[in-house]
Amino acid sequence: MLELFPDSARIEEGELTVGGLRASALAGRFGTPLVVYCEQTLRARAREIREAVPEALVLFGSKAFPNVAILRLFAEERIGADVSTLGELAFARAAGIEGERLVFHGNAKSDDELRTAAEAGATVALDAEDEPGRAAAAGTRRVLVRVTLGVEADTHEAIQTGHHGSKFGLPPDSALRTIAAARSHGLDVAGLHIHVGSQLADIAAHQETIEQLAAFAARCRDELGWTPEVVDIGGGFAVRHVEDEPIAPLGELARAVTDAVELVWDSRALPRPSLVLEPGRALVGHAGVTLYRVRSVKRLADVTWVAVDGGMSDNPRPQLYGARYTALSATRADEPATENVSIAGLHCESGDVLIDDVLLPDPRSGDLLAVPATGAYALAMSSNYNATPRPAAVLVADTEARLIRRRETIDDLLAFEYQE
Ligand SMILES: Cc1ncc(COP(=O)(O)O)c(C=O)c1O
Repeated sequence: MLELFPDSARIEEGELTVGGLRASALAGRFGTPLVVYCEQTLRARAREIREAVPEALVLFGSKAFPNVAILRLFAEERIGADVSTLGELAFARAAGIEGERLVFHGNAKSDDELRTAAEAGATVALDAEDEPGRAAAAGTRRVLVRVTLGVEADTHEAIQTGHHGSKFGLPPDSALRTIAAARSHGLDVAGLHIHVGSQLADIAAHQETIEQLAAFAARCRDELGWTPEVVDIGGGFAVRHVEDEPIAPLGELARAVTDAVELVWDSRALPRPSLVLEPGRALVGHAGVTLYRVRSVKRLADVTWVAVDGGMSDNPRPQLYGARYTALSATRADEPATENVSIAGLHCESGDVLIDDVLLPDPRSGDLLAVPATGAYALAMSSNYNATPRPAAVLVADTEARLIRRRETIDDLLAFEYQE
């Protein structure tokens, strides 16, 4: 199970350590729930993909965890950002990411977003037929056009994006009109964008999409006399959360997708484009571990509920996608895990269950649990449900811990309320 944890995770004297720090020390200092990010893992994943596809521009799909410290760390590794809101844009700029290393996405962009993206020199991924005019008016210079080619990726329907009828991207006829309109508005139409779907452990859906994209690029050449100089193939590479999910090596998948573009483009005698990749979850998912404190243990006839001090407010993925996780008893990791339990959250929803089935050593209230592979789309999708302050995140390396997002307080929440 340790392989699901960050690269620096160890069991020392029966206790989980990350970045050389004991789980109990981190929980004691920063409180729980706490998301612990391992710097070694973040840098290792960044280097893995940069080395696998040195010719490509790699952007962090920042929606997976928009955080200034982590964006800055990736910028040091020459990784830019894909952003899709004013907030994500502000975070990327605060991390010093601008210009060519910034792509602005979104199926419902505001004029304010387009103006701010233009100020930052971002490339805008056009996603609607009326966007070329609006983007030109906002001062955008360089654009991509997001194409949706009707490929159903083998993943949960909530994270499919390239299928027919998707709210994202433009079907080929519409994309063609959008490219023509963008050019007539004087925009630099650099290329095409796709995002096939997420949590993909092989490249089957990418392969099919790339073949169709090449056919579309050939159509653009024939009908518009234009071919893409850039192909942005989005993200989607999977993270392994539980032992029976497949291993999805980021570097190998990124290389395979890149090779597929080159091969398919060559076979159609299209000029080879420069490539952009936008991995989100695969860069941060494994780096994060959430520490929870057990508040109660309820042994019923059919189930033992182990209820923790967080839940769907800090990680809604089990409810949204049926995402599966596992857990380790962080301070009794060397004891035999013999009791089959379900991990419940504290929220007022029966569906607030973090883990359906996991083996733990005789759980007791006060235990510290560690849930691995929570670095992506957990804190990023967190909410204040039940007026719950959101947890803190820390970055650990070489026995040092740095707060990279402070814990919210009840006073923070009260500050938003109308008060007499
Ligand atoms: C346009 C785009 N790029 C990149 C990503 C990142 O996806 P993932 O975290 O699955 O790599 C997404 C996710 O929704 C996306 O929509």
